[in-house]
Amino acid sequence: MPYTAIVGLQWGDEGKGKVIDFLAKDYDAVVRFQGGANAGHSVYADGKFFAFHLIPSGMLWEDVVGIMGPGMVIDPDAFLRELGELSEMVGPLEGRLFLDPRAHIVMPYHKLEDALFEAAADRPIGTTRRGIGPTNRDRYGRLGIRVGDTLRPAYLKEHMRRAYDFNRRVVEAYGGEMPSYEELYSWLVDFGERIRPYVRDTVEMLDELERKGARILLEGAQGTYLDINFGTYPYVTSSHPISGGATVGGGIAPWKIDRVVGVFKAYTTRVGEGPFPTEEHGEVGERLREIGGEYGATTGRPRRCGWLDIPMVAYATLINGITDLFATKMDVLDELGIYRAAVGYDLGGRRLRYPSPYSADWYEVKPIYEDYPSGDALLEAVERAAGVDVVFVSVGKDRDAVIERQKRR
Ligand code: GDP
Ligand code: IMO
Ligand code: MG
Repeated sequence: MPYTAIVGLQWGDEGKGKVIDFLAKDYDAVVRFQGGANAGHSVYADGKFFAFHLIPSGMLWEDVVGIMGPGMVIDPDAFLRELGELSEMVGPLEGRLFLDPRAHIVMPYHKLEDALFEAAADRPIGTTRRGIGPTNRDRYGRLGIRVGDTLRPAYLKEHMRRAYDFNRRVVEAYGGEMPSYEELYSWLVDFGERIRPYVRDTVEMLDELERKGARILLEGAQGTYLDINFGTYPYVTSSHPISGGATVGGGIAPWKIDRVVGVFKAYTTRVGEGPFPTEEHGEVGERLREIGGEYGATTGRPRRCGWLDIPMVAYATLINGITDLFATKMDVLDELGIYRAAVGYDLGGRRLRYPSPYSADWYEVKPIYEDYPSGDALLEAVERAAGVDVVFVSVGKDRDAVIERQKRR
């Protein structure tokens, strides 16, 4: 089967960008199927560095095709900026990068609302303020503006009215200033003109690729515990970063995906608010942050750090149907010199094997820790709990810093 999905098993930033770049050498195309510029996927390859936000992370390989699917949300300014920067590094992307007309546009008022909601909230989510929540709210509220609309100005001019009226009331209710209709309209039409060569029906495109025998990667952004259904709700993102998200967000039949690679860090990090049972507030957290360089690739915020949470990884393996585990940042634990992980939780005297589906329990559970003599022993504990092999271990940020392990199951 042509498709391999790559997904994060924690709260994002597991090293998916590096993993996509590493695997892309054996693939012909990479598809992003959800999320938007909230993602930050860092890739270091042969002395080159690029932080991908919207464009698929495999594109440093010059013959890899990039596809941005219908499930994504596109910030026009961020996209044009990234397109310019990446083209400077790898040459023109026309004919190699494709954007589906059904992807939704992140409007300036969505970013404004994201910031206004966060500022007004008494318990903010700690979003990236990239407008992700409001854009997907409008997608489901049937008020969204899509990439394809920007290429049909007459339709756009009519169709924008409903979205504009609703969002104007929201923005003003929160004390913000709504840009004018004309201003937004001409900005969208201008965007449409600039992206015309990249816009294509990606369903048809994938069919053509499949017929040619192409192998295709599905690049998850964020992580399983940021999923709108399976994450630590409401401290989640507004999309489906799990493998199932690739079917609805990429337009890919489930039976065509026969390999699902689950990426996890040898410890745990989280950016933004929300529960984090194995978080380390003291010196260990500080050392993990410094050794691991744990600062956001999108917002530069320091990431919260703590021990590996094996129940989280094992449960995410179930949700995603993981076939291969890919561990990252083992070099960071090696430098720390402590191999500790949670193997279960105590909830009021009851032992839990998996994270609880009740939001309230996440604040109450006490992790049960185990120490291991080596990184290998820690990975074996993950394999036992997840029932899936760790096939690759990343030990540095460079493309080649990957150790392949024997598959035994
Ligand atoms: P993503 O969002 O899942 O793609 O992850 P990010 O790129 O946001 O964060 C992962 C960070 O760790 C990036 O700076 C990577 O370059 C870096 N990284 C990835 N794998 C390794 C590794 O094995 N060791 C070290 N030291 N750094 C790594
Ligand atoms: P990558 O793809 C880590 C987090 C935000 C916040 C929550 C909601 O690089 O792994 P949003 O802006 O999406 O509404 O924020 O989700 N978040 C991420 N954390 N990595 C990401 O992406 C993230 N994308 C969103 O910090 O807690
Ligand atoms: Mg990231």
